[in-house]
Amino acid sequence: MTHRIALLSGDGVGPEVVAEARSCVDELGLAIEWTELDWGSDHWLEHGTMMPADAIERLRTFDAILMGAVGRPGIPDHVTLWGLLLTIRQRLDLWANVRPVRLLEGVPCALAGRGPADVDMLFVRENSEGEYSGVGGRAHQGHALEVGIETSVFTRAGVERVVEHAFQLAGKRRGHVTSATKSNASRFGYVLWDEVAAEVAARHPDIRYEHVLVDALAARMVLRPDSLDVVVASNLFGDILTDVGAAVQGGMGMAASANLCPGGTAPGLFEPVHGSAPDIAGQGIANPCGAVWSAVLMLDHLGETAASARLLSALEDVCREGPRTRDLRGTATTAEVGAALRARLT
Ligand code: NAI
Ligand code: MG
Repeated sequence: MTHRIALLSGDGVGPEVVAEARSCVDELGLAIEWTELDWGSDHWLEHGTMMPADAIERLRTFDAILMGAVGRPGIPDHVTLWGLLLTIRQRLDLWANVRPVRLLEGVPCALAGRGPADVDMLFVRENSEGEYSGVGGRAHQGHALEVGIETSVFTRAGVERVVEHAFQLAGKRRGHVTSATKSNASRFGYVLWDEVAAEVAARHPDIRYEHVLVDALAARMVLRPDSLDVVVASNLFGDILTDVGAAVQGGMGMAASANLCPGGTAPGLFEPVHGSAPDIAGQGIANPCGAVWSAVLMLDHLGETAASARLLSALEDVCREGPRTRDLRGTATTAEVGAALRARLT
């Protein structure tokens, strides 16, 4: 069966790292039909929108979406992010954002005395509501009274499905779920989250469950990463915690993610966690590992488990033995890492 994959390379380093991920997937010899979509900041400059009006309908016709990142200096970040990524996540109802935080051998760890055995977490970020619901507004614009209101929306169904998904994933790992909230200072949404999470936990007596306040959890990720297995968190908290996670697993260039609608029919969207990195864009030095790892997650989701395992194994080998990009204290270019990965796949 041919897999139809949409390529949304986007801005900045997005096209640089997506090109390597794509050519690695091509090396695996699967039947894949790629469709490049030139949506992003250039589209905005030309047409005034990040993507065309029928974008969501078009995306639904693919089996998966492989994305780089969006964002460019000169265009407000909320315009680029809401004009593309956040709208796609919401409209396709990709409510689970799954992010492995695993330190691969050979990758320098920011934590003293820690190695790959200590850092193997899986984050499940709620991806459709919470603080990124897009509910709010501005009033008195330009006046001294000006106000901006951002409303966090938590629904019982939204919390339940993402926490349940975390428990399902924990059952295939070390059997431990940690739920991160802030139900001391926030009295409504996160209290609902805790209640629903406790109900889901009661259905899974075989899985160890704990809920932790997010600020304490941020410290624990640094001090005792080995004490965490699956972590489930809201949209905002999951976003922030997984940048801490990226730092712990070698930097932004290493972190991968899958945006999914488990049990649904919408195509998954797979993307590195990092942004468009305008500070290094165009230099050919971006680390492609996060994008390649995202392709690993994509192949797994498409049912190509053997190909996914081969690509992951190549990634592990290259991280262990090099070449590595500068963010990993190496000297290699993006293309050199991509070539080394492909050489291991032939
Ligand atoms: P960023 O992730 O682009 O960069 C943060 C730091 O990590 C920079 O020092 C950058 O050089 C480094 N970095 C990122 N990716 C790297 C890679 N592959 N290899 C080596 N180093 C890498 O985050 P920042 O600077 O906050 O945002 C830049 C732009 O990206 C903004 O416009 C922002 O809105 C957008 N953004 C887009 C995202 C997306 O499309 N998913 C996610 C995060 C940010
Ligand atoms: Mg982020």
